[in-house]
Formats: sequence, structure tokens, C-alpha cells
Amino acid sequence: MTTQEFLGKQNFKIHTKTVSESCPSNIALIKYWGKYENQIPANPSISYTLNHCKTNTSMEFLADENFAVQTFLAGHEEVKFAEKIEKYFKNIEQYIPWILKGKYIIRTENTFPHSSGIASSASGFGAIAKCLMKLDEEFSGNTSEEESLRKASFLARLGSGSACRSLYNGLVVWGASDEVEGSSDLFAVKYPDSKIHEVFKNFNDWVLLIHEGQKSVSSTVGHGLMNTNPYAERRFQEARENFVPMKQILKGGHMEHFIKLVEHEALTLHAMMMMSDPAFILMKTGTMEVINKIWEFRKQTGLPLFFTLDAGANVHVLFPKDASEEKIKIFIETELLQHTQNNGVVKDVMQF
Ligand code: PMV
Repeated sequence: MTTQEFLGKQNFKIHTKTVSESCPSNIALIKYWGKYENQIPANPSISYTLNHCKTNTSMEFLADENFAVQTFLAGHEEVKFAEKIEKYFKNIEQYIPWILKGKYIIRTENTFPHSSGIASSASGFGAIAKCLMKLDEEFSGNTSEEESLRKASFLARLGSGSACRSLYNGLVVWGASDEVEGSSDLFAVKYPDSKIHEVFKNFNDWVLLIHEGQKSVSSTVGHGLMNTNPYAERRFQEARENFVPMKQILKGGHMEHFIKLVEHEALTLHAMMMMSDPAFILMKTGTMEVINKIWEFRKQTGLPLFFTLDAGANVHVLFPKDASEEKIKIFIETELLQHTQNNGVVKDVMQF
């Protein structure tokens, strides 16, 4: 279908507007895994927002009595994605009253490879929510930047939970925690820069693409399986408790404790998958090889190289941007890249 055919003949006064926004992906350090109705997280989470892994989205809105959505991913029309967005827009109508009063053409592309297995839902829904807030300003009048970001985070959460953290840079918290002032289950908040030691403000995240393509079990199904997981309550409690040491670690710059906590969180996430019914494993042989080599390297050199995982086989390799980084980069290139599918690596940074 061409764009013209989609828009059809307009017999009444129209209001068109095109907005564009960009939003990065994020990687959780304390993980969100398990949720209640309306995308309420079972426990608080904290993530680093990335810099290079982004989604760029343009949204063309044409006022119309009929509601319709057409989407293009990297230039190709995607009907399934359009259906998902239609459902999402219907769901958030209560928060954006004009949202169903028109037709949309949404063009979106990721700066990271499409088949990489890097979750694009966080950056994707983040960018869509930002576009909606830009249109909302146009139609409903000005809101402060702070309010607009908060509402974008709120809306992004309803699309894909972890997306709400992508609206802010640096370290970001989603889910109510006694340890983080202003934190909420409904939207994300920036973790205060003044409470973060300098050593954590300049970090590399190299994403090793161990397995490109679709995951065998989606995040939606994975979250759902926490409902019947006998270890779920303990896990939610542990994640809540982990905010206590995390807060001290971030303030004090305790790298060794940070490494231990972040790796523990990653392995716990995957342990939960293995203890689900039915059980599933998203790690691949390459994931295990990389983890073992990282541990061995750390034992031999004492250098701060460690990992985290999202809900997939890829390994996020983390190391500070400091004097040790060159040695670590050489190790990754010579020892770890061989475990990726096509020498695939996305070299990202967290800088703020
Ligand atoms: O936002 P979702 O539904 O894609 O779930 C994300 C879950 C993890 O990436 C595994 C953890 C997290 O907190 O981002």
C-alpha cells in the first residue's frame, strides 16, 4: 500500500504534523522480571542508559475521523508492528484523549543491527512515547520539559516496561524503592548524579552478539512465568533488598562489590528462567564460554571486567573507561569475540 492510498481522500479540514525523536536502549543492573497488571513491576530496577544503541522514529499524524496506523521498520512496511501500535494507542487513549482521532505513518530505524537480538522494544517505545508527547504539546499546549519527560516515561512503560527507563540518561530507577526518593512503579526517575561516584559515570558496555535473531521465549511469556515460579516472591524481595548495597556501592565507588552484585543479578534472572514451569534457557554455549573466560581473566589480572545479561544469549561486557581499558579491549577482541555468531559486537558507552 502506498502512503497516498493509506491516507485516502480527505474531505474535511485536516491537521497534519510530523515529529521526530530518538531514544536509546538501556541495560538493567538490578533486573525487573515479573509484573502485575497494567505493567506494574514486581520489584524496583536500576539501569544504565546506553549511548549508541538507539531507535530513531518519525511520526506523521493526519487528523481524521478514522484511526489507523501504518509502520515502516528500516523502510519496510511492518503490518504486525502496526497492529501492536494500534492496540497500544487504544490502551493509552485515557491519557491522550486525541490519540485515536487520526491516521499515523510511523517510520522507525535502529542504529544497531536488526537481527542482533538487542531488545529494540525499550528504545522503540521510548521514541514513540517521546513523539506522542511532542504532538501532545502541539495539540494540548505547553507542558514543562520535566512533566513531558515524566509522562513520556509513563506512556513508554505501558508499551514495554523497561522502556520507561530509556527516557533519562545515566542511571535510572523504575519501581518504588524506599532507597530512592521519588521512585515510582508508574514511571522512571533519574538516579541522582550527586550520589554516584565518578568511577561509575564513564563506563564501556560492549554487547557481544552471541546469538542473532529471535529468542525462543519472549519477555512477555517470561514475565508471565514468574506468576507460578515458586521462587518468585523471594526473588522480588531480594531485588528490593539489593538496592541497599547498590546505593552504598554507587556512592562509595566500590568496584568489587559492584561487579559481584551486577553479575549476581544477571545470573539470578537466568536462574529464574530455569526454575520456571515450563523451564527455559536463553543462554547459549557461547554465553557460558564468555562468562567463564571473564572470570578467569579477572582472577589472573584483577582488572575490572565483568558482565550482565538481558533476557537473551548476548553478553553485555562492562568495564570502566580508565587506564585498564586498553588491556581489556585487547582481551575481548582476541579471546571473547570468537564466541559470537558473526564476530558481532556493538561497542557502546555510558557517559554522563
Ligand atoms: O521491558 P521488558 O518487558 O522487555 O522486560 C525487560 C526485562 C529485562 O530486560 C530482562 C530486565 C530489565 O529490567 O530490563
